Amino acid sequence: MPAIVVLGAQWGDEGKGKATDLLATSTAIDYVVRTSGGHNAGHTIVVNGEKFATHLLPSGILTPGATSVIGNGVVVSPEALFRELDALNERGVELAPLLVSANAHVIASYHSTIDKVTERFLGRNKIGTTGRGIGPAYADKVNRLGIRIADLFDEKILRQKIEGALELRNQILTKVYNRRAVEADAVAEELLSYVDRLRPMVADTSLLLNQALDEGKTVLFEGAQATMLDVDHGTYPFVTSSNPVAGGVCVGAGVGPTRIDRVIGVIKAYTTRVGSGPFPTELFDENGEKLWKVGGEVGVSTGRDRRCGWYDAVIARYATRVNGLTDLFLTKLDVLSSWERVPVCVAYEIDGVRQDEMPMTQTEFHHAKPIYEYLDGWWEDISECRTFDQLPKNAQRYVEALEQMSGTRIWGVGVGPGREQTIVVHPD
Ligand code: GDP
Ligand code: IMO
Ligand code: MG
Repeated sequence: MPAIVVLGAQWGDEGKGKATDLLATSTAIDYVVRTSGGHNAGHTIVVNGEKFATHLLPSGILTPGATSVIGNGVVVSPEALFRELDALNERGVELAPLLVSANAHVIASYHSTIDKVTERFLGRNKIGTTGRGIGPAYADKVNRLGIRIADLFDEKILRQKIEGALELRNQILTKVYNRRAVEADAVAEELLSYVDRLRPMVADTSLLLNQALDEGKTVLFEGAQATMLDVDHGTYPFVTSSNPVAGGVCVGAGVGPTRIDRVIGVIKAYTTRVGSGPFPTELFDENGEKLWKVGGEVGVSTGRDRRCGWYDAVIARYATRVNGLTDLFLTKLDVLSSWERVPVCVAYEIDGVRQDEMPMTQTEFHHAKPIYEYLDGWWEDISECRTFDQLPKNAQRYVEALEQMSGTRIWGVGVGPGREQTIVVHPD
């Protein structure tokens, strides 16, 4: 399997870090590649009980045998990049080699300033962004006002581009938001201070990855964010500003769609969401509190509490469809031990009418009420189970029912945060 995509099938935090780490250490993976988003991601890896979190870096950075790549579709804050590398180095872990696409766009300090003031300006209509400057950096990219990694190596061009970007931004900052203007020189000095350290990492990563695939090497594309946060296919406007779906992987890495062999959607055995926006199966009762508590549902990047709800098979089918999923990796099944019955959303009722698929409009999605099927629960602690047969019968039925409802085979099941706490249901 030379090109494998791992992506989020819900609203993020499904366990993509764990899935990537598992695949990178159990299969011979040559490259682990991030293709979208930036340091808004928070991916957790637990190795021998020790916890690591990656944000901008691919989780593969902790797999020394594989090269980590930050693709052209990623928005890169050099400050966050080196902060993250330094923090991992301080922990004394061996890191994989890292390459950064020359075409990736840069997040400068003014992007996060604008992100934060925009959210404040929106008040109760805010998106609930991570405040990391992701949206403004992608906006500059699409507006053709962005700065790319390659620009950092030409001081004259860099200064011109920063001035061009700030001309408009400063008008907005001072006249709309009543803030101080950002000094172009200060931005340039900061970005130039990273150049020496960055230079050896910069590469034509599209060329490199295509050559690697030609040579039969294995490339793992590690998704960040998720299908329902996709700017085209998610719950717009309560989304991120990139395309975390499978199609975005090709754009964000510079590889063609015909090269992708396998697309694994990571999905929790229930649902969580951080930030604002509709969430049909969200719980506001003691069940939601229990999922939050047992699941430890606190964001890795921002420390915000995640909103919790039951599994939504409509979303799973939608993710299957828009990503062309070949497999699902079902995580956090262990969290569901100790419920008498576990509700699973199989369809929505929208303005009195049953709808089995994701509605066409956001207004309808805002009105969607879950229609539940109730599956029998189990009480046993399943965190030590390593084969499907070791799971309690009702847990097995839960997995089988989800597989049937979701329209994709469940390749693996997570029964704990550790790499080894995984059941491979369908060995390849
Ligand atoms: P990501 O953003 O998709 O990589 O996911 P996060 O790391 O933000 O959040 C997933 C959380 O669930 C992390 O704390 C993981 O350690 C944890 N996790 C992943 N898989 C499992 C699992 O199967 N069971 C349990 N209990 N925790 C898991
Ligand atoms: P991982 O990769 C969960 C959410 C934010 C907000 C919206 C827009 O760990 O799954 P942004 O800062 O991207 O402009 O915020 O998207 N969001 C995430 N939620 N997991 C993530 O990443 C997220 N990245 C962004 O909470 O609602
Ligand atoms: Mg996360």
